[in-house]
Amino acid sequence: MYLLALAPILLVLVGSLGFLFVKVSRRESSRNLGELPPGPRGMPVVGHLHMLGKLPHQTLTHLSKIYGPIMSIKLGTVRTIVVSSPRAAELFLKTYDHVFASRPKTQAAGIFFNGSKAVTLTPYGTHWRNVRKLYVVHLLNTSKIIQFKPIRTEEIGRVIDRVKTAAEKNEVVNVSKILLELFENLVYRMILGRSKNDDDVKLKELVEEMVSLAGAFNISDYLPLLAPLDLQGLFRRMKQLRKSMDIILDKIIEEHEHQKDYKSKDDKDFVDVLLSLLNQSIDPQDKNSEIIDRNHVIVILLDMVGASLETSVKAIEWIFSEILKNPRVMKKLQDELETIIGKDRMVQESDLSKLTYLDMVIKEGLRLHPVGPFLVPHESMEDVVVDGFYIPRNSRILINVWSIGRDRDVWGDNVEEFYPERFENEDIDIQGLDFKLIPFGSGRRRCPGMHMGILNVRLVLAQLVHSFYWKMPHGMALEDIDMDEKFGLTVGRANNVFAIPIYRFND
Ligand code: HEM
Repeated sequence: MYLLALAPILLVLVGSLGFLFVKVSRRESSRNLGELPPGPRGMPVVGHLHMLGKLPHQTLTHLSKIYGPIMSIKLGTVRTIVVSSPRAAELFLKTYDHVFASRPKTQAAGIFFNGSKAVTLTPYGTHWRNVRKLYVVHLLNTSKIIQFKPIRTEEIGRVIDRVKTAAEKNEVVNVSKILLELFENLVYRMILGRSKNDDDVKLKELVEEMVSLAGAFNISDYLPLLAPLDLQGLFRRMKQLRKSMDIILDKIIEEHEHQKDYKSKDDKDFVDVLLSLLNQSIDPQDKNSEIIDRNHVIVILLDMVGASLETSVKAIEWIFSEILKNPRVMKKLQDELETIIGKDRMVQESDLSKLTYLDMVIKEGLRLHPVGPFLVPHESMEDVVVDGFYIPRNSRILINVWSIGRDRDVWGDNVEEFYPERFENEDIDIQGLDFKLIPFGSGRRRCPGMHMGILNVRLVLAQLVHSFYWKMPHGMALEDIDMDEKFGLTVGRANNVFAIPIYRFND
């Protein structure tokens, strides 16, 4: 969107900055380690930036069909490698993971995470390793997931009650809105440690903007000479947003500090845990490592909220939309739920492992709609030759998971169809071992919140489909449910999904 509006400016810049391009490209090709991967011819200075369009993952899928699964383009001054097959993804995320496990330094990372104090947008290195370990050991472990069970049960129960009231009145439900509110409440209670108050700023709207800004193709990142002009106004918006987020987080941290018992509580939320680590070495084994300060606490909370809120909502929204569009799948899923659970109680977390069709439905949903269509961009840390192609140091790597999920050679002719049965006798792993399906990434940068994410997606979907039949709003046909996408660091539905619930239980 931003790029389209800026096309004329970019074209003018082509001429004036042409000489710089010649200098940079000469430097790149002089390494003589072999040929860069093939790619379309770009323009001087802007490279292929102007070609990305509104949905870059779709544009690049189209181009990869012409130039191959390892394709090279140039986004401004940044060499960018687009990876679009399971075999190529395995080369980048497993064989050469040690080279590609970094993240590019971007304006968004600088503003939202003080450069590199958190995990998601932090370059590879000791700091990233230490903070990621802190996440895994203290925040995303099994006992924390179990500890939050009562919160999940209560919040999901509340949603079911609300939808039940709508069902009694035969009302249309905005499922997207309900999901976003559910996860906002879950994030408030699990990560920030308290329920959302009416006077709290709407975290979900701020996070939505943060993820969208962090995923935008920011001209300042690709043509750094133009950064001071802030042509898209992104710098200004990110600064304002960070300020608003700081106000919320500061308030929440202060509330926790006043509680005094946060260090001794058994059921610590994430803020309690982080505050109890204040002034300690970030790496307990290395007393000389960085000391955790209040700034760390803020950016880690920001990272956690950003990484968990939108991903889960968007995943469920997509899969729910597919189920609604495919009554055959909804019926089969309800039959499974009825066989395993019956019709007189809610789904329990202990039921989930028995719901094999639900698992297939989720895999199929994430195949067609990976919420991170390029994962989070990776960056190469050294010059390397992959599959005969020269990949220069500091190249940006986009793993086009969206394209892999829709590749006919991988999935067969019915690739566009929502058909969960394709996973029936195929033991395809979703956690990063099978490069056909990597919605959580793979290797060193794989999503550390995956278990929490999968649990939430399973539980919410199971509960919504078990408790209600869902039908189309009056006057709408199944074909009217659009599947339009909105691009950002995560890709969600462009429009909300609506449906009418009919309560299924006997009470
Ligand atoms: C359905 C839900 C989720 C999906 C689909 C998802 C997907 C992803 C993806 C694709 C990546 C990037 C992997 C890469 O670049 O190679 C990622 C990274 C990450 N995710 Fe998730 N995620 C989900 C839920 C969560 C949750 C609940 C949390 C935490 C509470 C979380 C925390 C993170 C973090 C911290 C990273 C950055 C890892 C790093 O850079 O080292 N995610 N996630």
